[in-house]
Amino acid sequence: MFAKSVARRALQLQPTLLAKRTKVSLPELDWDFGALEPHISGQINELHYTKHHQTYVNGFNAAVEQFDELKSKLDNDPAVAKQIVAVQQNLKFHGGGYVNHCLFWKNLAPTSQGGGEAPTGALAKQIETQFGSLDNLISLTNAKLAGVQGSGWAFIVKNVENGNQLEVVQTYNQDTVTGPLKPLVAIDSWEHAYYLQYQNQKANYFKAIWNVINWKEAAKRFEAAA
Ligand SMILES: [Fe+2]
Repeated sequence: MFAKSVARRALQLQPTLLAKRTKVSLPELDWDFGALEPHISGQINELHYTKHHQTYVNGFNAAVEQFDELKSKLDNDPAVAKQIVAVQQNLKFHGGGYVNHCLFWKNLAPTSQGGGEAPTGALAKQIETQFGSLDNLISLTNAKLAGVQGSGWAFIVKNVENGNQLEVVQTYNQDTVTGPLKPLVAIDSWEHAYYLQYQNQKANYFKAIWNVINWKEAAKRFEAAA
């Protein structure tokens, strides 16, 4: 009797659990919105997280749902295939936005939690070997960020198909890095990431953000990526 009721309960729960697993949601932050001040204001973080990141979460979930629905209707129909191609754009944009911001929050930390402290270990060694110093890598990344015309990102990545070398990659819109490019640090160059505080002085935002970069997280990603 008891076993039956447990089994029945499990079946009742299953649809909810399944529904949850097919969706993404905002990640938990390791710090308060105001914890990155004065480098990034609490107001920016709050809007960035609760409005912008939330929009990508919603957009990605909706696109996945549309894709699933269209897939079930495909049945050799070019018109449905065309609709799937159209949904792909939303998957890429909102999926990239969801992923990039998850990386971004995690690779930021208040100075009281080690933000801005230079990396140690294998990552520190690799930076030294390839760039001579952390400052040189930062300058190179800032140059890439400055080169973004409109909205985009810069990523410091480990290229596992190129001898595990570090590379700095710039993308547009919410394009993310995939395949052999394993992201260690992701920096948001969209206006929503800095405008309320830095207005048209985006170079000052790029300079300031290094004070709250979580190099411990980057070092962890560097060692884990294979
Ligand atoms: Fe953003």
